[in-house]
Amino acid sequence: KKIAIIMGGYSNEYEISLQSGKVVYDFLNKDKFDLYKIHIFKEKWVYVDNTDTEHPVDRSDFSIRIDGDKVNFDCVFNAIHGTPGEDGLMQAYFQLLNVPQTSCGFYQAALTFNKRDLLSVLKPYGIKSAASYYLNKGDSIDEDAIIEKVQLPCFVKANKSGSSYGISKVYKKEDLQQAIDVAYKEDDEIIIEACLTGTEVSVGVLKLDGKTTVLPITEITTENDFFDYEAKYEGKSQEITPARLSQAQEKNVRYWAKTIYDILKMSGFSRSEFIFIKDEPYLLEVNTTPGLTTNSILPQQAAAAGIDLPSLFENAINEALN
Ligand code: DAL
Ligand code: MG
Repeated sequence: KKIAIIMGGYSNEYEISLQSGKVVYDFLNKDKFDLYKIHIFKEKWVYVDNTDTEHPVDRSDFSIRIDGDKVNFDCVFNAIHGTPGEDGLMQAYFQLLNVPQTSCGFYQAALTFNKRDLLSVLKPYGIKSAASYYLNKGDSIDEDAIIEKVQLPCFVKANKSGSSYGISKVYKKEDLQQAIDVAYKEDDEIIIEACLTGTEVSVGVLKLDGKTTVLPITEITTENDFFDYEAKYEGKSQEITPARLSQAQEKNVRYWAKTIYDILKMSGFSRSEFIFIKDEPYLLEVNTTPGLTTNSILPQQAAAAGIDLPSLFENAINEALN
């Protein structure tokens, strides 16, 4: 089977995506699959061959040419974080072209990439989340109203972003404006959330042999102020799998991670983030193309479940082709 591994993307998560894509390329079994690295950047979509030479992708049917011969793909392995790989755009494109791909559908991607919309859709099902305040570009900023709603400290977040780009923890009213400016650099929409103090966990869910499966849960602790970019990628955090949870916490968070996956009719990988208030998990967000670098959380969780990287990636392709 011919597999296109797409990586890069249009957001500043492209560097992480290139690492994820490389890990997928390095670990997928090359006796079983013909692998093609495809870089998706705003300026160019290109196939990068083994000599690092770039060849254009024909966007009308997602094909490439090798020695003059047209190559179409049996499946796309999606390793793009952020737009256009995690927000539904690529998913819709491949669906129109009838090319199977490993991540969830376009609706699930678009919905989960929008933190505010995801939380509102899930709320009627009983999922808990932090008190929040929304801002859109051009809105006047009423700092007292914000603080009355979410208290201090609070988190100011870009609504559609990843890897903690555009997120600040704010302790003082004087610092709100700057945090809002930082978030607007990533997105025209902002979500400001109350700061929840409790154990933070990350829960990976995927389809394994057609069945929704929750991986061992990871507890996140950081020496930084929160699980920011540096904590995520520059070693300033500790990720403990399996998480040290009470029985009730474990049961509740597994229930919600699986329920969210099933309610939304997800497919492919997902990794949901929660913070506990006592035994109750509060949802922060759901990632649908989670990091796949060797340090990333989902690969650690798979390893804890006895699933090595070649099997994890092969399973993703098999699920996409089924
Ligand atoms: N957005 C990053 C890649 C993650 O969720 O792992
Ligand atoms: Mg995220």
